[in-house]
Amino acid sequence: MSEAKAEIATPKKKVERKISKPIPPPAVSTALLILRGTIAGITGCSIGNETAASLMQPSFVKDKGPTGKFSVGLGKRNGSLCELDVGMEGDDGDADKETAAALLDAIEKAANRIIAEDLSVVRFQMTREEAVAKYGNVIFDQSQQKPPKKKKDVPPPLDLVYIEGLVLAVSPGPTFSSTGQVKSIELQRGNYMSCVTAGKKARKCEIGIKFKATGLEDSSSTLTELGEPVSMDVIEPLTASKIRLQEGNDFALVQQTKQMLINKDKESKANEATEKKRDEEEMVVDPFSVQGKIDYTKLVKNFGSKVIEPELLQRLYDVTVKRGTVPYLHRFLRRNIFFSHRDLEAILDQVEKNQPIFLYTGRGPSSSAMHLGHLVPFLMTQWLQQAFNCPLVIQMTDDEKFLFKGEYTENAGYNLDYYANLTVENARDIIACGFDPDKTFIFSDLDYVGQMYPNICKIWKSVTTNTVNGIFGFDGSSNIGKIAFPAIQAAPSFASSFPVALNVRNDPSKDNMACLIPCAIDQDPYFRMTRDVAHKLIINQNEHPLRGKPALIHSKFFPPLQGAMGKMSSSDENSAIFLTDTHEQIEKKIKEHAFSGGQDTKKLQQELGANLEVDVSYQWLRFFMEDDDELERIGKEYGSGTGEFWSTGIVKAKLVDVLKNIVTEHQARRKEVSDEVVKAWMKERCLL
Ligand code: TYM
Repeated sequence: MSEAKAEIATPKKKVERKISKPIPPPAVSTALLILRGTIAGITGCSIGNETAASLMQPSFVKDKGPTGKFSVGLGKRNGSLCELDVGMEGDDGDADKETAAALLDAIEKAANRIIAEDLSVVRFQMTREEAVAKYGNVIFDQSQQKPPKKKKDVPPPLDLVYIEGLVLAVSPGPTFSSTGQVKSIELQRGNYMSCVTAGKKARKCEIGIKFKATGLEDSSSTLTELGEPVSMDVIEPLTASKIRLQEGNDFALVQQTKQMLINKDKESKANEATEKKRDEEEMVVDPFSVQGKIDYTKLVKNFGSKVIEPELLQRLYDVTVKRGTVPYLHRFLRRNIFFSHRDLEAILDQVEKNQPIFLYTGRGPSSSAMHLGHLVPFLMTQWLQQAFNCPLVIQMTDDEKFLFKGEYTENAGYNLDYYANLTVENARDIIACGFDPDKTFIFSDLDYVGQMYPNICKIWKSVTTNTVNGIFGFDGSSNIGKIAFPAIQAAPSFASSFPVALNVRNDPSKDNMACLIPCAIDQDPYFRMTRDVAHKLIINQNEHPLRGKPALIHSKFFPPLQGAMGKMSSSDENSAIFLTDTHEQIEKKIKEHAFSGGQDTKKLQQELGANLEVDVSYQWLRFFMEDDDELERIGKEYGSGTGEFWSTGIVKAKLVDVLKNIVTEHQARRKEVSDEVVKAWMKERCLL
């Protein structure tokens, strides 16, 4: 408005609006009182403190029918004035409808019980000052909070009513009956229906009530007369946040249980999420480290290999056991320890057609003693060699271990010789695994690399530094030997790397011999890289059953003594049993360090049994105990805490026995492997 206009504008007369309040029938007024008390008694609202004085606020009383409507503020957010969280949050972040409905049910039930008890309603009058001094502000609803403006010298007396446990101020006019004169109180539900508004979106919590209260026909005859003020002694203290009615306790119990379940659910979802995250974060499987809880299903998916399905195992059985080359499928296959593969079908095709294949595996000699975990792929390879009656090449990557772990000192220079010597020591253990001497060639990269060099050059030319860095996690700070090395582990996958051993020099068709590599799944990255470029190393691609690609069969990891995480490591003495360990060392390590899945007490163990999944002794027995029936029995008894093998101690003792035998026999065979024998196995010669 412009200034000029403002000057001439005449001020409007304030129209005083008169709100005429119809006087409700006694049943409605009495029901309102009952409901006000009931809500407080059920929610445990602290109606005695100043801020809670607005608890009851009749907002509408309809003349047309015996209905009333009012709302109750229950405090901030989820009902800060209440004893319990009435504004539970639903899935959508809004108020939980179920809770609101349950609360209304409880109020209705309590109100009707009070009717049935026919409690007397006492009406009395006193001055406002007196009433506040005696009962506190709790007696007022919101509309009565402020004292009326003094129009007369003497303010009119305040009307109050008392029903057991509750004193309330009422506006003048309505009449009340005893509670028994109300026939029924019905809370209305539906769209309009009252609900607790809460949840994330709520700033305050409020319950709206719309009710229908019918009175007995003759209720007018029992209207409450004015009586004496109620003494404070008979009024239960209303100041505490306390649930005062049985219906409130029932409601609270349901609510608390529900809240507990919600919290539990939230907690377990949160735990699941953190566990999943931790597993994801911690599961590292590559040739240089194996960490965390290994999820083999996920690994197969991530790596893109295939699970060995029962049908494939049956085919393997048919071309080996059925042909009589081996007496039974190896326990590693029977027990799903070798569990994943790449193109194993193609190898079986070749075997079925009596076409030549060769096996290739290896060892990075990083310590003089090999541990039980290292035995796993070698024992499998030994079985495969016997089963397929085929040549085998074993690469000793002394160069790799030097490039990754070698040291330089001023006095001694590089310790390359140290790794060359470890090759010989480890070769003794490998020979002791029982390979066919006529069909097995063990070679040290440092010696033999020249024969593979043409293939190594071709691989170098086919793979970029970026690819190698991506697969193995190298970067600009890695020595160039590390970046070059994957090609050296790839090269033996091609028969042409063995011009003498596989006779490719004299018979070029041998270039097409398919290769099968048994290893634990940590070595797979080398061979993914190899398979990607394999076709470039084969002259007649179509003649090779896999266009040059090596096939693979992968094992799970033999777990360390401390538990089923990661893989056994040579660098932690107490995590592994070495093939050089004495009986005493084996016994001590297992007794002291093997992680137990058993229960804490004898009683619990006999009640619940052990968790076999995490129990190292049981898991180790799966790898090394031959007898399936006995293993099954141990699993059943230990897993249920019954029978001979009910306890960790007994299972550990069994494992000690099994391992002592294996290690003793291995050591005896190893003792036979002289330097001369090693030389013979490492001599380049034709294996066909
Ligand atoms: P290396 O010496 O780390 O391991 C030798 C072989 O043992 C497997 N292995 C295990 N298997 C089961 N449980 C365990 N806890 C466990 N620890 C190790 C390995 O997967 C591997 O098969 N770079 C390789 C040497 C190599 C090679 C290969 C291995 C060269 N060419 C061809 C396999 C196939 C290495 O350092 O392995």
